[in-house]
Amino acid sequence: MDVLMNNYGSRAVELVRGHGAYLYDADGKEYLDFTAGIAVCNLGHAHPAVAGALADQAQTLVHCSNLYLIPGQVRLAEKLTALSGLEQAFFCNSGAEANEAAIKLSRRYAWQKGETERTQIVTLPSAFHGRTLGSLSITPKPAYHQGFTPLLPDCFTPPALADVVDAISERTAACFVEVVQGEGGVNVIDRDVLHAISARCREVGALLVVDEVQTGVGRTGSFFAFREVGLEPDIVTMAKGLANGVPVGAVLARAEVAAAFTPGSHGSTFGGNPLAMAAANAVVDIASQPQFLAAVRQRGEELSHALTQFGDEVSGKGLMLGITVADAKAFAAAALAAGVLVTAVGERRVRFVPPLIIESSHIADLVTRLRGAGL
Ligand SMILES: Cc1ncc(COP(=O)(O)O)c(C=O)c1O
Repeated sequence: MDVLMNNYGSRAVELVRGHGAYLYDADGKEYLDFTAGIAVCNLGHAHPAVAGALADQAQTLVHCSNLYLIPGQVRLAEKLTALSGLEQAFFCNSGAEANEAAIKLSRRYAWQKGETERTQIVTLPSAFHGRTLGSLSITPKPAYHQGFTPLLPDCFTPPALADVVDAISERTAACFVEVVQGEGGVNVIDRDVLHAISARCREVGALLVVDEVQTGVGRTGSFFAFREVGLEPDIVTMAKGLANGVPVGAVLARAEVAAAFTPGSHGSTFGGNPLAMAAANAVVDIASQPQFLAAVRQRGEELSHALTQFGDEVSGKGLMLGITVADAKAFAAAALAAGVLVTAVGERRVRFVPPLIIESSHIADLVTRLRGAGL
């Protein structure tokens, strides 16, 4: 263990195998997975379509770099632009990288228009956009900043949600929003607030960026959460569920905005490589089907109802739900002992983000296990 850096603290559980909504440790102990690799394994573990696509691609071509056209990128971009209403895509390897690229694209778009003073990025209180220096700069959690300053200049988060609209000005390049904040505690951002932010962005010429890293790929019961609330973003970022665990990130943008990325202005060695694209294409073909999304909404309602017996303030959308308990870490630890994986997001908030393929029987199993743990 000493050979690994300690940034994740000690990790007692060692998982070696997964199937559907269940994971297994080296001794064969079974865990019901309501964490899904932090909202990543949306199709569950060892999904045959993803495994098959990966196996085929691994025997064909894993990597060739972006010096050459990758057909899987074109296929995935066609699907994601059709689903989002945006026009062009850029592929990278993670959520932080997607947001990093979106920061760069927003500033570069302003710069290309000659608006060189328009550099500010505005974000919402309790937002989470990643851990790289750029994405960390737009993640207003002081504990995550400690020892890493100075961060990127000109990033601003007002103290209250009600102040975000006023914070957006002619100097703002972009405002980043999450429709449901995941790491911030599973907070559904009020639709009217989102629309007021969007209107203010239009008024002053700032871009609206929706971070769908956690909410996207069906998590909230729609393929994109922003479409459910009627937003029209200029840029959308994605990652997590997009390839069911194979590292991938994506930035989608209106063509006029995307044009700011001219040849050589941004790039990635691994981004959008054939292996990741094979997995992502397989995932999107399944997770964009109306009956798949309808099932997520149905299971979400059942889970939301079931969770009322374990905590207060049940919130979220689809299968992205949170509850308030007395001590979130203690709750997660007791659940773990009972063979249930959940995560604490804040001192009193517990998050439930199971694979989207769960059935009612998995919710019944969750209830039995949590009750058995005295929760
Ligand atoms: C909304 C959101 N944006 C960005 C990120 C960062 O993604 P990654 O960990 O893939 O860099 C996360 C991760 O939790 C997230 O929830």
